[in-house]
Amino acid sequence: MSRPTRVTHIALLLASILFSVINATPTSRSASTITVKAGQSIQSAINQAANGTRIHVEAGTYAEQLLITKDGIKLVGKNAILVPPETYATNLCTGLAGPLQSDTGDTQAGICIYGSGVVLGPPLPPSDGQEHRKVTCVGAYVKDVSVEGFEVNGFSGLNIAVVGAQNAEVRKNKVSDGFRYGILTVGSKKSLITRNTVSSSDLKFIGICMDDKSDVSVTQNEISAYYIGLCVQTNKADVGHNKVSNICIGAFVDPGIDGASLTHNKFNGTNPICVFAGLGSIGIAVVGATNTNVQHNDVSGISDGKIPDNIAAGIALFDAPPTNATKNTVVFNTLQNNDVDLEVLAAGPNNIAHNICSQPGPGCK
Ligand SMILES: *[C@@H]1O[C@H](CO)[C@@H](O)[C@H](O)[C@H]1NC(C)=O
Ligand SMILES: *[C@@H]1O[C@H](CO)[C@@H](O)[C@H](O)[C@H]1NC(C)=O
Ligand SMILES: *[C@@H]1O[C@H](CO)[C@@H](O)[C@H](O)[C@H]1NC(C)=O
Repeated sequence: MSRPTRVTHIALLLASILFSVINATPTSRSASTITVKAGQSIQSAINQAANGTRIHVEAGTYAEQLLITKDGIKLVGKNAILVPPETYATNLCTGLAGPLQSDTGDTQAGICIYGSGVVLGPPLPPSDGQEHRKVTCVGAYVKDVSVEGFEVNGFSGLNIAVVGAQNAEVRKNKVSDGFRYGILTVGSKKSLITRNTVSSSDLKFIGICMDDKSDVSVTQNEISAYYIGLCVQTNKADVGHNKVSNICIGAFVDPGIDGASLTHNKFNGTNPICVFAGLGSIGIAVVGATNTNVQHNDVSGISDGKIPDNIAAGIALFDAPPTNATKNTVVFNTLQNNDVDLEVLAAGPNNIAHNICSQPGPGCK
């Protein structure tokens, strides 16, 4: 090796070390942590946090609505309980789940993670049975936000909403009594909703709903006492290893949804209100969806006391004209103690085989 080359090498080496030192500055800043104690405001910690900041929230009850619109915010709660403030303020998630039925204003969110330049679909009319506003366009996704270890209770619309986010994680939270939704992810990419407990003290509307652009995973959550446990409105959604109980409908796969996967979930028990109100009950409802992969789920105790004309079935497939349920795969599921284990009301073709039923017969395949 000639001398000049060696010098060049050393110079390059120095340059690269220098470069990485300079580059390290934002990294060290991004590793910073802010601690919030009981009595302090979580939102003001979020407001002052730089990209990559972990915000540790200590034990306490915090009466706030939180809005996260910055990249890299990691909210970590330790026995931290978020409840509605005395009066709600308007923020980006206001009205996301429509107006309140009693005409007392819009629905509100507990934690609202929101991208920039998000354009929502039309406001919902103030009628019953509405879901949420759609996301029609996202300017820039808010990236790498995570929310972990919180208890979020009793917000009037959604306990946690993820809107126009990328790589958001909602993990190990305990959310209860979100009036219309426990957790909603809408218009986002690569959302991960995992290991949360979602419950309500009576029968609220939707436990976890995914209405994303792509790549959503909803895994290992426990959901109970919702009209719909899991609402599946994203193509190729990955819905696995969840436990859903005490519901009217365990999982509802919407018309037109293609390639969702529901595997290794456990659905058990119809909520008595669904029976009382004559709403019927279904563990997994595939309604006008295609290529859904329903495998290795365990569905039990779906019953409305066998009221004639109601449907109470472990797994049911329906057409939703003009969108039919076709090319769905329903295999290796275990169905026990349901009024009807498997109800196929779709013309097909669908692949239904190898399921284990407690009432073997023509209905069970
Ligand atoms: C935040 O940091 C991440 C990772 O370093 C980066 O990809 C992203 O662009 C940053 N966002 C902003 C707004 O600076
Ligand atoms: C349903 O599952 C839940 C949670 O896994 C469990 O606590 C409950 O006992 C089950 N109920 C029935 C009727 O099996
Ligand atoms: C959907 O199914 C219905 C019968 O349930 C059938 O009459 C109709 O032609 C089907 N539509 C399409 C688009 O296949």
